[in-house]
Amino acid sequence: MVEIDAVVKVYGDAGGYRALDGVSFTVPEGQFAAIMGPSGCGKSTLLNVLGLMDQPTSGSYKLDATAVQGLSDAERTHLRRDKLGFVFQSFNLLPRMTALQNVCLPMGYAGLSRKDRLERAHGLLARVGLKGKELRTPLELSGGERQRVGIARSLANRPRLLLADEPTGNLDSKTSVEIMALFRELHAEGMTLLLVTHDPGIAAQADRILRVKDGRIVADERPAAQPA
Ligand SMILES: Nc1ncnc2c1ncn2[C@@H]1O[C@H](COP(=O)(O)OP(=O)(O)O)[C@@H](O)[C@H]1O
Ligand SMILES: [Mg+2]
Repeated sequence: MVEIDAVVKVYGDAGGYRALDGVSFTVPEGQFAAIMGPSGCGKSTLLNVLGLMDQPTSGSYKLDATAVQGLSDAERTHLRRDKLGFVFQSFNLLPRMTALQNVCLPMGYAGLSRKDRLERAHGLLARVGLKGKELRTPLELSGGERQRVGIARSLANRPRLLLADEPTGNLDSKTSVEIMALFRELHAEGMTLLLVTHDPGIAAQADRILRVKDGRIVADERPAAQPA
Protein backbone atom coordinates (compact mmCIF):
# COMPACT_ATOMS: atom_id res chain seq x y z
CA MET A 1 0.00 0.00 0.00
CA VAL A 2 2.89 2.32 0.89
CA GLU A 3 6.38 2.07 -0.58
CA ILE A 4 8.86 4.79 0.17
CA ASP A 5 12.50 4.67 -0.75
CA ALA A 6 15.33 6.98 0.30
CA VAL A 7 12.96 9.84 1.06
CA VAL A 8 14.71 13.05 2.06
CA LYS A 9 12.98 16.25 3.13
CA VAL A 10 15.02 19.40 3.52
CA TYR A 11 13.26 22.49 4.85
CA GLY A 12 14.62 25.76 3.53
CA ASP A 13 17.25 26.23 0.84
CA ALA A 14 20.30 24.07 0.21
CA GLY A 15 22.02 23.52 3.52
CA GLY A 16 18.61 23.81 5.22
CA TYR A 17 17.24 21.51 7.86
CA ARG A 18 17.15 17.80 6.93
CA ALA A 19 13.90 16.70 8.60
CA LEU A 20 13.90 13.34 6.77
CA ASP A 21 17.27 11.83 6.04
CA GLY A 22 16.73 8.83 3.79
CA VAL A 23 13.61 6.99 4.93
CA SER A 24 12.69 3.68 3.30
CA PHE A 25 10.00 1.18 4.22
CA THR A 26 6.96 -0.55 2.83
CA VAL A 27 3.61 -1.11 4.46
CA PRO A 28 1.52 -3.95 3.07
CA GLU A 29 -2.21 -3.59 2.64
CA GLY A 30 -4.11 -4.15 5.89
CA GLN A 31 -1.18 -3.54 8.22
CA PHE A 32 -1.42 -1.33 11.30
CA ALA A 33 1.94 0.36 11.83
CA ALA A 34 2.75 2.70 14.69
CA ILE A 35 5.39 5.40 14.28
CA MET A 36 7.22 6.49 17.42
CA GLY A 37 10.10 8.84 18.16
CA PRO A 38 11.10 11.92 20.12
CA SER A 39 9.59 15.32 19.44
CA GLY A 40 11.12 16.96 16.37
CA CYS A 41 12.47 13.73 14.86
CA GLY A 42 10.40 14.10 11.69
CA LYS A 43 7.24 12.07 12.35
CA SER A 44 4.81 14.74 11.17
CA THR A 45 7.01 15.54 8.19
CA LEU A 46 6.93 11.85 7.26
CA LEU A 47 3.17 11.64 7.63
CA ASN A 48 2.68 14.82 5.60
CA VAL A 49 4.77 13.35 2.79
CA LEU A 50 2.82 10.09 2.96
CA GLY A 51 -0.42 12.09 3.06
CA LEU A 52 0.55 14.01 -0.10
CA MET A 53 0.34 17.27 1.81
CA ASP A 54 4.05 17.87 1.36
CA GLN A 55 6.53 16.77 -1.30
CA PRO A 56 9.86 15.16 -0.50
CA THR A 57 13.07 16.84 -1.63
CA SER A 58 14.21 13.51 -3.10
CA GLY A 59 13.38 9.84 -2.99
CA SER A 60 10.41 7.91 -4.27
CA TYR A 61 6.94 7.21 -2.97
CA LYS A 62 4.40 4.76 -4.33
CA LEU A 63 0.91 4.91 -2.90
CA ASP A 64 -1.20 1.87 -3.75
CA ALA A 65 1.17 1.15 -6.66
CA THR A 66 0.95 4.70 -8.07
CA ALA A 67 4.26 6.55 -8.26
CA VAL A 68 3.63 9.95 -6.72
CA GLN A 69 6.65 11.85 -7.99
CA GLY A 70 6.00 13.46 -11.34
CA LEU A 71 2.25 13.79 -10.80
CA SER A 72 0.70 17.19 -11.39
CA ASP A 73 -0.85 19.05 -8.45
CA ALA A 74 -4.30 18.09 -9.71
CA GLU A 75 -3.37 14.42 -10.00
CA ARG A 76 -1.93 14.47 -6.50
CA THR A 77 -5.09 16.06 -5.15
CA HIS A 78 -7.19 13.36 -6.79
CA LEU A 79 -4.98 10.58 -5.46
CA ARG A 80 -5.17 12.04 -1.96
CA ARG A 81 -8.94 12.30 -2.14
CA ASP A 82 -9.42 8.80 -3.49
CA LYS A 83 -6.95 6.83 -1.39
CA LEU A 84 -6.23 8.65 1.85
CA GLY A 85 -7.81 9.66 5.08
CA PHE A 86 -5.97 11.88 7.56
CA VAL A 87 -6.68 12.28 11.28
CA PHE A 88 -5.07 15.19 13.17
CA GLN A 89 -4.02 15.63 16.78
CA SER A 90 -5.97 18.88 17.06
CA PHE A 91 -8.92 17.54 15.04
CA ASN A 92 -8.84 20.42 12.47
CA LEU A 93 -12.62 20.72 12.32
CA LEU A 94 -14.24 23.86 10.96
CA PRO A 95 -15.65 25.52 14.09
CA ARG A 96 -18.72 27.13 12.54
CA MET A 97 -19.87 23.97 10.84
CA THR A 98 -21.85 21.11 12.33
CA ALA A 99 -20.40 17.63 12.71
CA LEU A 100 -22.46 16.63 9.68
CA GLN A 101 -21.12 19.48 7.54
CA ASN A 102 -17.55 18.73 8.62
CA VAL A 103 -17.92 15.12 7.52
CA CYS A 104 -19.56 16.12 4.23
CA LEU A 105 -16.83 18.60 3.37
CA PRO A 106 -14.31 16.25 1.72
CA MET A 107 -17.12 14.69 -0.31
CA GLY A 108 -17.84 18.04 -1.92
CA TYR A 109 -15.18 17.38 -4.50
CA ALA A 110 -16.11 13.79 -5.13
CA GLY A 111 -19.12 14.29 -7.34
CA LEU A 112 -21.74 12.84 -4.99
CA SER A 113 -25.25 14.25 -4.88
CA ARG A 114 -26.23 16.24 -1.79
CA LYS A 115 -28.57 13.46 -0.70
CA ASP A 116 -25.85 10.80 -1.02
CA ARG A 117 -23.39 12.99 0.86
CA LEU A 118 -25.78 13.50 3.75
CA GLU A 119 -26.71 9.85 3.86
CA ARG A 120 -23.09 8.77 3.94
CA ALA A 121 -22.18 11.37 6.59
CA HIS A 122 -25.06 10.25 8.81
CA GLY A 123 -23.88 6.66 8.45
CA LEU A 124 -20.28 7.56 9.32
CA LEU A 125 -21.28 9.61 12.36
CA ALA A 126 -23.44 6.74 13.58
CA ARG A 127 -20.56 4.33 13.13
CA VAL A 128 -18.23 6.48 15.28
CA GLY A 129 -20.90 6.69 17.99
CA LEU A 130 -22.29 10.18 17.35
CA LYS A 131 -25.87 9.38 16.39
CA GLY A 132 -28.06 12.26 17.57
CA LYS A 133 -25.16 14.73 17.68
CA GLU A 134 -24.92 15.36 13.95
CA LEU A 135 -26.03 18.99 14.18
CA ARG A 136 -23.69 20.06 16.97
CA THR A 137 -20.72 22.25 16.22
CA PRO A 138 -17.25 21.31 17.53
CA LEU A 139 -17.67 23.67 20.51
CA GLU A 140 -20.70 21.65 21.58
CA LEU A 141 -18.73 18.40 21.56
CA SER A 142 -16.11 16.97 23.93
CA GLY A 143 -12.53 16.35 22.79
CA GLY A 144 -13.20 12.67 22.22
CA GLU A 145 -16.36 13.47 20.26
CA ARG A 146 -14.45 15.98 18.13
CA GLN A 147 -11.93 13.30 17.30
CA ARG A 148 -14.79 10.95 16.41
CA VAL A 149 -15.95 13.58 13.93
CA GLY A 150 -12.36 13.80 12.66
CA ILE A 151 -12.29 10.06 12.10
CA ALA A 152 -15.71 10.07 10.40
CA ARG A 153 -14.47 12.86 8.12
CA SER A 154 -11.29 10.92 7.31
CA LEU A 155 -13.49 8.05 6.11
CA ALA A 156 -15.71 10.26 3.96
CA ASN A 157 -14.26 9.17 0.64
CA ARG A 158 -13.73 5.52 1.63
CA PRO A 159 -9.94 5.61 1.77
CA ARG A 160 -7.67 2.56 1.57
CA LEU A 161 -5.06 4.12 3.84
CA LEU A 162 -5.60 6.04 7.06
CA LEU A 163 -2.84 8.31 8.42
CA ALA A 164 -3.18 9.62 11.97
CA ASP A 165 -0.74 12.08 13.57
CA GLU A 166 -0.95 11.67 17.35
CA PRO A 167 -4.74 11.28 17.18
CA THR A 168 -5.04 10.78 20.95
CA GLY A 169 -2.39 13.36 21.87
CA ASN A 170 -4.99 15.87 23.08
CA LEU A 171 -7.25 13.35 24.81
CA ASP A 172 -7.39 11.95 28.34
CA SER A 173 -6.50 8.30 28.79
CA LYS A 174 -10.05 6.94 29.01
CA THR A 175 -11.06 8.79 25.84
CA SER A 176 -7.85 7.61 24.14
CA VAL A 177 -8.83 4.01 24.81
CA GLU A 178 -12.23 4.63 23.17
CA ILE A 179 -10.67 6.28 20.14
CA MET A 180 -8.16 3.45 19.81
CA ALA A 181 -11.01 0.95 19.89
CA LEU A 182 -12.37 2.69 16.79
CA PHE A 183 -9.02 2.51 15.00
CA ARG A 184 -8.72 -1.16 15.94
CA GLU A 185 -12.16 -1.82 14.50
CA LEU A 186 -11.17 -0.15 11.23
CA HIS A 187 -7.98 -2.20 11.16
CA ALA A 188 -9.96 -5.38 11.80
CA GLU A 189 -12.06 -4.51 8.74
CA GLY A 190 -8.93 -4.36 6.62
CA MET A 191 -7.93 -0.70 6.72
CA THR A 192 -4.22 0.01 6.34
CA LEU A 193 -3.28 2.28 9.23
CA LEU A 194 -0.22 4.41 10.00
CA LEU A 195 -0.46 6.06 13.37
CA VAL A 196 2.04 8.36 15.07
CA THR A 197 1.98 8.08 18.85
CA HIS A 198 4.04 8.80 21.96
CA ASP A 199 2.10 6.22 23.94
CA PRO A 200 3.76 2.78 24.21
CA GLY A 201 0.40 1.29 25.19
CA ILE A 202 -1.06 2.44 21.87
CA ALA A 203 1.96 1.36 19.84
CA ALA A 204 1.70 -2.09 21.44
CA GLN A 205 -1.67 -2.51 19.71
CA ALA A 206 -0.08 -2.19 16.28
CA ASP A 207 1.25 -5.01 14.09
CA ARG A 208 4.53 -3.15 13.82
CA ILE A 209 6.43 -0.26 15.37
CA LEU A 210 8.68 1.99 13.28
CA ARG A 211 11.02 4.06 15.45
CA VAL A 212 12.24 7.37 14.05
CA LYS A 213 15.23 9.37 15.24
CA ASP A 214 16.83 12.39 13.59
CA GLY A 215 14.88 11.85 10.38
CA ARG A 216 15.77 8.17 10.02
CA ILE A 217 14.10 4.87 10.82
CA VAL A 218 16.25 3.38 13.57
CA ALA A 219 14.16 0.33 14.38
CA ASP A 220 11.39 -1.72 12.79
CA GLU A 221 9.88 -4.00 15.41
CA ARG A 222 6.99 -6.24 16.29
CA PRO A 223 5.37 -5.23 19.58
CA ALA A 224 6.34 -7.60 22.38
CA ALA A 225 2.84 -8.53 23.45
CA GLN A 226 -0.37 -8.14 21.48
CA PRO A 227 -3.23 -7.15 23.79
CA ALA A 228 -6.48 -9.04 23.51
N1 LIG B 1 7.65 23.90 7.62
C1 LIG B 1 8.82 23.73 8.25
N2 LIG B 1 9.86 24.55 7.99
C2 LIG B 1 11.06 24.36 8.59
N3 LIG B 1 11.32 23.40 9.48
C3 LIG B 1 10.32 22.56 9.79
C4 LIG B 1 9.02 22.68 9.21
N4 LIG B 1 8.24 21.70 9.71
C5 LIG B 1 9.01 21.01 10.57
N5 LIG B 1 10.26 21.52 10.62
C6 LIG B 1 11.38 21.00 11.43
O1 LIG B 1 11.61 19.65 11.05
C7 LIG B 1 11.86 18.85 12.19
C8 LIG B 1 10.87 17.71 12.25
O2 LIG B 1 9.58 18.23 12.54
P1 LIG B 1 8.30 17.31 12.69
O3 LIG B 1 8.22 16.43 11.51
O4 LIG B 1 7.16 18.20 12.98
O5 LIG B 1 8.70 16.45 13.98
P2 LIG B 1 7.79 15.55 14.95
O6 LIG B 1 6.43 15.42 14.34
O7 LIG B 1 8.52 14.25 15.02
O8 LIG B 1 7.76 16.24 16.27
C9 LIG B 1 11.80 19.79 13.40
O9 LIG B 1 13.11 20.16 13.73
C10 LIG B 1 11.01 20.96 12.89
O10 LIG B 1 11.38 22.13 13.57
MG1 LIG C 1 4.56 15.92 15.05
